Amino acid sequence: MRLPRHITIRNNRLHINGQDCVALAERYGTPLYVTSEDRIVEQYDAYRNALSKDYPDVQVLFAAKANGNLAILRALARRSAGADVFSSGELKLALDAGMARENLLFNGSSKTPDDLRLAVGEGVRISVDSLDELRQLEAAAGSLGKVAEIAFRVNPALSVPTHPKIATGLATSKFGIPFQNITAAYREALSCSHVRPVGLHCHIGSQILDTEPFARAAEVMVRVAEELTRIGVRLEFIDLGGGLGIPYRHDTDPAPTPDDYAAKVVPIFRAGADACGISPALWVEPGRSIVADSTVLLTRVNSTKSAHKRFANVDAGFNLLIRPAMYDAYHEVIVANRADEPLTTEYTVTGPICETGDILAQDRKLPEISAGDIIAVLDTGAYGFAMSSQYNSRPRCPEVLIQGSQVALMRRGETLSDITATMERPPWQK
Ligand code: LLP
Repeated sequence: MRLPRHITIRNNRLHINGQDCVALAERYGTPLYVTSEDRIVEQYDAYRNALSKDYPDVQVLFAAKANGNLAILRALARRSAGADVFSSGELKLALDAGMARENLLFNGSSKTPDDLRLAVGEGVRISVDSLDELRQLEAAAGSLGKVAEIAFRVNPALSVPTHPKIATGLATSKFGIPFQNITAAYREALSCSHVRPVGLHCHIGSQILDTEPFARAAEVMVRVAEELTRIGVRLEFIDLGGGLGIPYRHDTDPAPTPDDYAAKVVPIFRAGADACGISPALWVEPGRSIVADSTVLLTRVNSTKSAHKRFANVDAGFNLLIRPAMYDAYHEVIVANRADEPLTTEYTVTGPICETGDILAQDRKLPEISAGDIIAVLDTGAYGFAMSSQYNSRPRCPEVLIQGSQVALMRRGETLSDITATMERPPWQK
């Protein structure tokens, strides 16, 4: 199987950033998320370098929803990354990580009054999703005596090649303002006293393995920008949204790079900006492609079973990695302590959750497995721990970070007492 540079096999064992996965599993226990900080930094730099080659003013905003560990946000903040934050919690993470306010965008299609007040109070730019929200924001900023700088999220009505649940810019999607109505929205924003429209935002979908749809989105955005410039909006940034998909099927999926993305999108962006006589900053907000392949989820085999097929019952389920259950997503799996052995036997790797759909990997050729073996689920750095839960009252597992030759916990594992820690006893049960 083709592997990225930081994932290697030595002495029959899988390694990440030079660390033996089996030794990590022994040291920290399983299940265990293990992340290479070096890989994340490398992927972030790849975006920055690719985009800034041909355009002078670029900002990469990491989509914090993909992985909300503070250590990861801190590593990115140290490279001057910004963040797309989609909740007050993500805003707090980005600020705590040391990200600069001017590099943040507060997104969301359903913000609470508290979200709006927090964003205005912190002075971060806001992507506004509806006219109702605009009016609420005008009132909130007014009551705080501030001016909120905003973009509107445009719905470009583009269908894209990805799972329908993560196509975000379809005409029927819940996000954004239809592009036909966008000029009227900016007109209203221009007439506000406590809101200043300074940007334009879109997002077309996630896990897109073709650069063409991003080019189509850029075309829509520059057309809209032209119209907005004409009515007097001074665009300081245009945010083209999330990033590329990643090759979850290592040997067969296409693997577009940030360079491919930039080659497709930047010329359209630059020509559009030139035609309007403006030079807005080019913003992108990739999540998955920065963090997905940085991480393996290590899970121990509790038992094997031959029924109508062979099952490997492991200790991580969709409580820790919901992508296979939710999107029929494919993740490569490698038996970390038998990484060089011949793939002789077909297994379905199943979690401990009481649901038939709790399958991490279906019908995979693996070496002969026994209880105690360690299976590594690859490409789990994006929407992995971030979407985890305590379903079946299972404590969430720890997360470990590797940088160079250093290894440290970046999140402790929850304990059984954490399961009940936030529960209250109603007074009539005292
Ligand atoms: N910006 C906005 C406004 C978004 O909605 C998203 C993702 C991103 C940025 C980051 O997109 P990315 O570069 O990661 O493709 N849980 C799903 C993915 C949901 C993505 C939703 N929005 C999964 O596991 O596949």
